[in-house]
Amino acid sequence: MDIVEHVLISEEEIQARVRELAALVSQDYAQRTITLICILKGGLMFLCDLAKQITSPVTYDFMSVSSYGDATESSGVVRITKDLEESIEGKHVLIVEDIIDTGLTLSYLLKNLHSRNPASLKICTLLNKPANRRVEIPVDYVGFEVPNEFLVGYGLDFRQLYRNIPYVFIPKPHYYREETPPA
Ligand code: PRP
Repeated sequence: MDIVEHVLISEEEIQARVRELAALVSQDYAQRTITLICILKGGLMFLCDLAKQITSPVTYDFMSVSSYGDATESSGVVRITKDLEESIEGKHVLIVEDIIDTGLTLSYLLKNLHSRNPASLKICTLLNKPANRRVEIPVDYVGFEVPNEFLVGYGLDFRQLYRNIPYVFIPKPHYYREETPPA
């Protein structure tokens, strides 16, 4: 694709790391049922691949917590646009995210979910961008530490596009400076 400046993490690297993370999670939770909470929309690809590889019993639910909209940087304002359908009281909850950037989204989410009294609450993120952190987040499972670049693919969008691309890439800067994304 012309928009790709550089593939940061290939499909093979992602899939290999997802298998490793799933093995760690399965070992830690053993036969306890894990409630995976996917943070839409970015976490969807990761949830699907991760859940397929986990050997512990799994249920999942979805939540949308938007802080960015179509902007490329966090506004710092977090709002729930879709809440969970099931109660998480007494459950072992694992939040599944595509990326932690400033940490503002998860900081809000952790407080919110803690108040619902889960038996445990952990975080699994595919990508971690520590350089941009504005609030400290206790992350339990991390796929890759990534540089402070604008990243797209495998759940991460550029104006809602390219979430379905199976690798993570850095786009050419002139694309995101233009008004209209390429077809
Ligand atoms: C992205 C990402 C995280 C959040 C991380 O979501 O999926 O939820 O930003 O950023 P932070 O650590 O700076 O808060 P976004 O709000 O862009 O929604 P999306 O997943 O639908 O793209």
